[in-house]
Amino acid sequence: MHNSDAPAPLAGSRPRKPLSGVVRIPGDKSVSHRSLMLGALAVGRTEIDGMLEGEDVLATAAAMRALGAGVERIGERRWRVDGVGIGGLGEPADMLDIGNSGTAARLLLGILATHDFTAFVTGDGSVRTRPMNRVTDPLSRFGARFVTREGGRLPIAVTGARDPVPQTYRLPVPSAQVKSAVLLAGLNTPGETRVIEPEITRDHTERMLGHFGATVRTEPHEGGGKLITVVGQPELRAAPIAVPGDPSSAAFPIVAALLVPGSEVTLTGVGVNPSRTGLLDSLAEMGADIARLNERVEGGEPVADLRVRAGPLRGADIPPERAPTMIDEYPILAMAASCANGRTRMRGLAELRVKESDRLTGTAEGLAACGAKVTIQGDDLIVEGSGAPPAGGATIQSRLDHRMAMAFLVLGLATKDPVAIDDARTIASSFPDFTALMDTLGARFASRP
Ligand code: S3P
Repeated sequence: MHNSDAPAPLAGSRPRKPLSGVVRIPGDKSVSHRSLMLGALAVGRTEIDGMLEGEDVLATAAAMRALGAGVERIGERRWRVDGVGIGGLGEPADMLDIGNSGTAARLLLGILATHDFTAFVTGDGSVRTRPMNRVTDPLSRFGARFVTREGGRLPIAVTGARDPVPQTYRLPVPSAQVKSAVLLAGLNTPGETRVIEPEITRDHTERMLGHFGATVRTEPHEGGGKLITVVGQPELRAAPIAVPGDPSSAAFPIVAALLVPGSEVTLTGVGVNPSRTGLLDSLAEMGADIARLNERVEGGEPVADLRVRAGPLRGADIPPERAPTMIDEYPILAMAASCANGRTRMRGLAELRVKESDRLTGTAEGLAACGAKVTIQGDDLIVEGSGAPPAGGATIQSRLDHRMAMAFLVLGLATKDPVAIDDARTIASSFPDFTALMDTLGARFASRP
């Protein structure tokens, strides 16, 4: 058995046979976090089905419990939240530790900004490097006070506003986390809170607020983009949640199936909310054979089964306005691009530098170590594919970044020599069953002593 205090190296190598099978993708991380947070702010009991039971979400569950909500696991992927109502959370007795998740940190700071007590928020070595001033700046305008480390970093002490003032805030970066933090602060603020988003970002917060009975309006904004308005101090009513499969997790078996010759894989119940499907659009432009079957709406979110067949890919030019709809998928898209025929240019990736790690640099350096031709120009990542996978044979540092770890393991399924990562433990933050699921499909990952 692996000792969880020690790094867990892992390597991907070419499977002997094509990948095949039908698998269910674990629950969406964004939706899971929000279901716990909004469930805690609703009146009554929320039942959540399909919850992602990854470390990030478990940390959010613990935080909401520490703030006074009843949060309980009642079965496999099934959870129950007894909410306290908007404004009903209470001072936590200890630090809130949100683990690896920037989403949890930022959304939680939004909620805490309009609760009249002081709380202390921290997280792991990755999230403590990430900029939080992108939320503390707008949240201060509501009247919240923050004490942060240098550069607006965690740990952060937040004292929520006693008499919050509603805000109209234009997002300076295309971030669903910042949008959500402001909307959540607006929940316990009298009057209307508005967010202008020049570029469209994932809309799970707005959808779920509506599902719980809040008044949320989304309309086109004159200058382009959207204007989102939430009416403050509604009574949120508990409502059942069905969490769709996470398209950002599905991305890894999708690309694996495209790259291993002869593969055919079906992934069931994957979220296809249009604010999340940039990867599917990009892969389609690269010639991928991915069919959306059985499209339906579950719990207010569109889902589909995805049937993926292996085949040759060609390079593509990925426009910057697509970035928010596939922001977490660039590392795995870059792996696909390195096996494609021709140049793939992924434009406008500044935000990749401030994810769980600097994914722009990490992707470029890791691919170069595997023998791919790759450059960074400004905020663009350019991968020159030769029509065959790069050689592989490198060990990549995962740097507390689950998606980087999974992306390079998947590349190893296509390269001549295996691709290793130094530590696979980080994968549990978003996709604890990753290796088991890939194994079911026929992928080989070997632990290295
Ligand atoms: C998320 C939004 C994205 C994404 C993150 C989850 C969310 O971050 O990278 O993994 O749940 O709102 P940004 O909105 O900051 O780009």
